[in-house]
Amino acid sequence: MSKNFYITTPIYYPSGKPHMGHAYSSIVADIFARFKRIEGSNVLFLTGTDEHGQKIQKEAQKKNKDPKIFCDELSEKFRSLTKILNLTNNDFIRTTEDRHFKAVNEIWNRLTKSGDIYLDKYSGWYSVSDEAYYDTDEIEEVNGKKISKISGSPVEWVEEESYFFKLSAWQKKLLEYYNSNKEFILPVSRKNEVIKFVEKGLKDLSISRTSFSWGIPVPNNSKHIIYVWLDALTNYLSALNFPDINNDKYKSFWPADVHIIGKDILRFHAIYWPAFLLAANLPLPKRVFGHGWILSDEKKMSKSLGNILDPLEIINKYGIDQLRYYLVKEVSLGNDGSISMENLKNCINNDLANNYGNLCQRVFSFIKKNCNNKIPFSKNLMKNDLNLINNIKKKIPELIKLIDKQNLNEYIKLVVSFSFEANKYFNDSEPWSFKKKDPDRMNAVLFTISEQIKNISILLNPIIPISTKKVLEAMNLNEKDISIDTIKKENVFDNTKELKMLDILFRKIDDDN
Ligand code: ME8
Ligand code: MG
Repeated sequence: MSKNFYITTPIYYPSGKPHMGHAYSSIVADIFARFKRIEGSNVLFLTGTDEHGQKIQKEAQKKNKDPKIFCDELSEKFRSLTKILNLTNNDFIRTTEDRHFKAVNEIWNRLTKSGDIYLDKYSGWYSVSDEAYYDTDEIEEVNGKKISKISGSPVEWVEEESYFFKLSAWQKKLLEYYNSNKEFILPVSRKNEVIKFVEKGLKDLSISRTSFSWGIPVPNNSKHIIYVWLDALTNYLSALNFPDINNDKYKSFWPADVHIIGKDILRFHAIYWPAFLLAANLPLPKRVFGHGWILSDEKKMSKSLGNILDPLEIINKYGIDQLRYYLVKEVSLGNDGSISMENLKNCINNDLANNYGNLCQRVFSFIKKNCNNKIPFSKNLMKNDLNLINNIKKKIPELIKLIDKQNLNEYIKLVVSFSFEANKYFNDSEPWSFKKKDPDRMNAVLFTISEQIKNISILLNPIIPISTKKVLEAMNLNEKDISIDTIKKENVFDNTKELKMLDILFRKIDDDN
């Protein structure tokens, strides 16, 4: 029986169109989802949109639109981005759906029953753009305006009747959980940040608002709207048909294996979410991975700086595999990383066109010219041939481990090194020099290098699925063969079939474009 694996992205606010930051989280999650599938897991990959709350209501008002119609239009842009990014999400959840409404109601009722909710009055700072409450010591004044020190977003003073969640009561249990689940929060630097915050002491959390109407009403007191974060976080359960905890989806996929999020929303996922779940007597997710910030030319992307990168522009110009590869190769997952057009071009040229792409094209055209276009076979592999092949096979457990720790950078570095090695092997082995004097030696080299191309393509498949599929199809392998198991097998090629035509995989980018 195959293992189940549940991975999620944040559900994005459809308050504007999607940008590079959203694309980044989604691509990263998709790479893990794809890897786990080719490793043999039964994967559920969820993404979607977070449609309630004051922020959305305000944006809709600005556009003079009914909030639901506003969300319908913008959510559609996020849904179509999943296709453009070539995501393999199994579901796309909207918090305005009926299934979600049911799940949120059940969570509220569970928290009420457990005695974790009480009615009081909130007075304090609130940021609509973060949909977050801030303490006085988290606020500063810049140019006469109060802003959050943490996010830089404007805050306003709020005083209203509110339901509270007894977050303070869960402080000890949370610390225990972090302690006994050392990899619940990754990377480690973020874990330490969270632990420090929780150790300082947790205050009870306001979980309802009365000053606007766009959201899910509190059961039995519809004057109150459920705080958008309690609403939003529950999406991870709604998609499993919660509250029906006896259905297959819930049983197979909860607790989630990993929530991929940006570091901006770590507090919500690593503190509030597990506390809600503890109070609701539900199992906690196994991991929250908070990645870093994509910077545009060293600066944070923002509307006012006018440096917001549009993924669609780059994809139209250079291609989706190119963007996917670049984002995860050049930005070390977990840290902030600056991206620039200059870097993007270099990365496409060096890694994709000159290295992997060139390897495939060169070898295939050599086979076409010298072997009737069929991958040859030879039993007489020499030590260095076998070393090359076995080096990848030996490293499979290590590669799996890297992925299971979301160490995507080390994973890619390793795979790229295989590709460099393979290119070097092809040059050094000089198969052309054996054509006449020792055709079996030539065949052995070509068989070895074909093995390498196949294995590297499988390992790169989660990152650049379109190009690697072209390569594997050209070798007469099919969807089923794209699996980690295929790497372990000997001679999977059909030596009677001709290679299929392979178009240029990655066009080199010159300075004019
Ligand atoms: O916070 N670099 O939605 P949101 C990297 N609805 N990632 C970035 C980024 C950047 N510059 N900008 C955005 C919300 N992101 C809530 C989430 S989940 C239950 C509710 C990514 O539209 C990153 O994943 O503001 C970040 O956490 C997320 O978009 C925030 O998206
Ligand atoms: Mg945000």
